[in-house]
Amino acid sequence: MNNYVKIFDTTLRDGEQSPGATMTSAEKLEVARALARLGVDIIEAGFPAASPDDLEAVRRIAIEVGNPPRGKEHARVPVIAALARASKADIDRAWEAVRQAAHPRIHTFLATSDIHLQHKLKMTREEVIQRVREMVAYARSLCEDVEFSPEDAGRSDPNFLYEVLGEAIRAGATTLNIPDTVGYTTPDEFGALIAGIIKNTPGMHDGITISVHCHNDLGLATANTLAGIRAGARQAEVTINGIGERAGNTALEEVVMALKTRSPIFGLETGIDTRQIARVSKLVSNYTGIPVQPNKAIVGANAFAHEAGIHQDGMLKHSLTYEIMRPEDVGISQSRLVLGKHSGRHALRVRLAQMGYSLDEAELDRLFTRFKALADRKKVITDADLEALVNDEFYQPREVYTLDSLQVSCGTMGLPTATVRLRGPDGKVHVHAAIGTGPVDATYKAIDHIVRAPNTLLEFNVHAVTEGIDAIGEVTVRIQPKDGMQKLDAQHEVLYERVFGGHGADTDIIVASAKAYLAALNKLLVAQSETRHMVTNDYGVMLG
Ligand code: KIV
Ligand code: ZN
Repeated sequence: MNNYVKIFDTTLRDGEQSPGATMTSAEKLEVARALARLGVDIIEAGFPAASPDDLEAVRRIAIEVGNPPRGKEHARVPVIAALARASKADIDRAWEAVRQAAHPRIHTFLATSDIHLQHKLKMTREEVIQRVREMVAYARSLCEDVEFSPEDAGRSDPNFLYEVLGEAIRAGATTLNIPDTVGYTTPDEFGALIAGIIKNTPGMHDGITISVHCHNDLGLATANTLAGIRAGARQAEVTINGIGERAGNTALEEVVMALKTRSPIFGLETGIDTRQIARVSKLVSNYTGIPVQPNKAIVGANAFAHEAGIHQDGMLKHSLTYEIMRPEDVGISQSRLVLGKHSGRHALRVRLAQMGYSLDEAELDRLFTRFKALADRKKVITDADLEALVNDEFYQPREVYTLDSLQVSCGTMGLPTATVRLRGPDGKVHVHAAIGTGPVDATYKAIDHIVRAPNTLLEFNVHAVTEGIDAIGEVTVRIQPKDGMQKLDAQHEVLYERVFGGHGADTDIIVASAKAYLAALNKLLVAQSETRHMVTNDYGVMLG
């Protein structure tokens, strides 16, 4: 058995299904590019049958990320996969979306657990076998690379699974993905399930890749994935930061770093450039508006922080005392003073290039202006500050409203008041002043008055990028449209239950808060206008 584990990233499909993780097409493209730089083998770019927008987003990724750049025809590019239920209509849309990639893949699925057969699909086992046979063969008639997933495999009868998977192989599937859809299994069980499948599935041969896809409902997704790999799986389906339905999917960074850090016990490798992990984690968090919990393994703010005196003492004597991985191996830079007030444009360009960013002249100009303004307020500018600036300047949703200026008065002597000036989509300037329970509330009320997009603020998070009183503050918010906005007309209820995230950074946290709120509102407005042009979405909510 080979010792290479393929990394199949589903941040843009299963990850995007998590509440509030909605990304615009431009953001998805940017994430796909970052995933390609990270070295993932397969990008599952979306579920094209869900909506014409999803199909278009996958198609753009297939064309732009799934092909080598001109002049670099031999460069390695990831496989671009699209998900499809086991129906001709879904498979056709998936194929239409990925066919222009150099290496396209159709990923089709059908549930196999009795619970799903009886209550969801209302199908018999024989009917499931028949559908798998027909739909995998149909997918294979279009595309050489076909993945089949028996949904809810973790709760399926293993003997029935062997039969279904055997049919999928006969019909031409090249990858068999085994999902623990509801995160129910334990590592021993899941490892045994994978071993059983490899041993007992009729027609199993070396050309078939066994894949694992675990959800985290019991907090066991990474452990189950590693157990599956030890049992012989050679593809792991993962998401950045572990985002996904309910408690999420297996986190890419955890599986990859476990395989790397404990390589003597696994003896396996991946193609991931681990030094990109922190950056991609940040990008996904900013775009989705889902913050990373501080104690999250590998990418949490505290993952490499040592607070206890005994730990600090040990670390000073030797880092191996309390550190099993080096922060720089996952792209967390230890460099403190990078640049300051007197640093020039060239120094900024060099440092950004060292950090992996290549900006064109116009982008560098914009960033240099922001850098100088920051350097006037903050003595020490670290890589983390620069990253916050880059994210804030370039990784923002399409702007419908932009913040022109903001003035706030607050404190113990009066009512918190905010005067907000926004530039609207028509280029017109709108000004409004409002009072609130605090400066952020006053600011949001003034913005609401201008933008008029009724919503509920579900989450508001603020944290400092670096230590010190002059640190940049980062704010992430998540909002949900209120009823009136969801139902644009009788047909278009697709904004239903959608949550929009926004991110903003500034040394003034009220300004950062205003930017984050506007970013989320802009996404909501863009989605609303896209929805107006959409055909009816005739598909229900998908499990998984
Ligand atoms: O969790 C799941 O079962 C899925 C499938 C569609 C692969 O996401
Ligand atoms: Zn899933």
